[in-house]
Formats: sequence, structure tokens, C-alpha cells
Amino acid sequence: MSSFTLPRKWQGASVWALYAVGLAPAIWSFYLGATGSLGADPVKTFERSLGLWALRFIIATLAVSPLRELGGPNLIRYRRALGLLAFYYALMHFTAYMVLDQRLDLHAVIADIIKRPYITIGMASLVMLVPLALTSNSYSIRKLGHNWNRLHKLVYLIAAGAALHFAMLVKVITLEPAIYIAIVALLLAYRPLRPYLKRRKKQRSVHQPAQ
Ligand code: HEM
Repeated sequence: MSSFTLPRKWQGASVWALYAVGLAPAIWSFYLGATGSLGADPVKTFERSLGLWALRFIIATLAVSPLRELGGPNLIRYRRALGLLAFYYALMHFTAYMVLDQRLDLHAVIADIIKRPYITIGMASLVMLVPLALTSNSYSIRKLGHNWNRLHKLVYLIAAGAALHFAMLVKVITLEPAIYIAIVALLLAYRPLRPYLKRRKKQRSVHQPAQ
């Protein structure tokens, strides 16, 4: 696949554009909430929307490498922004839960984290996102070297946790959570299959006649 590359001067701006576009759903939901347009249960709708966007950005972050390796677009430049957007949404989701849902009742929050397994798993995913967000900068990549890659493998556990969190909170798995869970499962399965798929791609390109 021929890859389209933006002119150099637009590359930095395109990352900032991604942050702006990525944060737009949060601003829009907040606006709808503030103007009383979020339906019968605005707090739940707001909280859920932020959780869903956190999951979407986790998926987008995980999809960057497979896309590139399987001949799709190379979006590696945007991976850091996608990961940070996932963190910001997870943090906003937690804040909405704590402030709007639990009204800052710390005892109730702690009891929930201990007693409700889906909240425990959501919390674990958020906690694991913190070191990844804190080390998502060039200084940490240089300083941590090989350990940076090891640390950032946590993203697989975070994605599995986020999908499980979603699966556990619904009584019956409907189409929407099933789709998200299937995408996460595929992205997680890609990792062990990666060497085999890469070998096949290489063999195919060797056997293809030159044009
Ligand atoms: C990486 C972290 C997290 C992700 C990706 C995530 C994602 C999600 C998703 C996708 C939903 C379902 C949205 C829907 O029904 O459409 C959800 C619901 C929920 N999450 Fe999370 N979550 C995370 C962390 C947390 C944390 C830390 C808490 C609280 C300690 C939490 C509390 C909740 C609650 C209470 C709901 C259900 C709201 C309701 O419908 O009653 N989540 N989350």
C-alpha cells in the first residue's frame, strides 16, 4: 500500500488537531449536560459516554501497530496522543463517577472499588494508565530505554481490563459491548500471531513479481 505522508510543516499541527478533535466529544457531552439535553439520566449518560470514549481511544492506540504492520496507514506519529486521550477520558470518567454519581462520598467510592468487581477492574485499568501517561514523553523514552517498552506492554492488560469492565457491568451482553469486546480480543490475539503474520507478509512480497 502506498503511504500518504503529510508535508513536514503540517505534521505537528495534525497531532494538535487530533487532541482538539479527540476532546470534542467530552466538551459536547458537557455542553449537552449543562443545557439539560442529556436525557432522563444525564449523570449516567455523561459518565458512560466518557467511559466509552476512553475504551475507543485504548482500542485506537492498540490498533496503530497492527494497521501499519498489515499494510495499512502508518499512524505511529499519533499513538502518543491517542494513548493520552484514552487516559484523559478514563480520568474524566472516574471524576464524573466520583463527583456527580457518588457526590464525593469517599467511603462509598472505596466500598464500590472493593465490593463491585467491575469497578475494581475499572479502577485497576485507570491506575495502570497513570505510569503510561507519565512516561509518554521523549525524556522518559530515552531515560527508561528497554524498560519503557516493557512498561508500555501494560496497555494490553489495560485493554483487557477495560473490556472486562464493560462486559461485567451489563446484565446481558448486547451488540454494542460485544463489538467492543471482540475488537479488543482481536487486537490482543494479534500480539502472539504477529511473528507468523509478519513472516507471511514478507514471503508474499518476495514471491510477488516485480512490476
Ligand atoms: C481505563 C479505565 C476505564 C474504562 C476504559 C472504562 C470504560 C467504561 C465503559 C465503556 C463503560 C460502559 C459505557 C456504556 O454503558 O456505554 C463504563 C461504565 C462504568 N464505569 Fe468505567 N471505565 C474505566 C474506569 C472506571 C473507573 C476507575 C470507575 C470507577 C471507580 C468506573 C466506573 C464505571 C461505572 C460506575 C460505570 C457504569 C455507569 C452505569 O451505567 O451505571 N470506570 N466504563
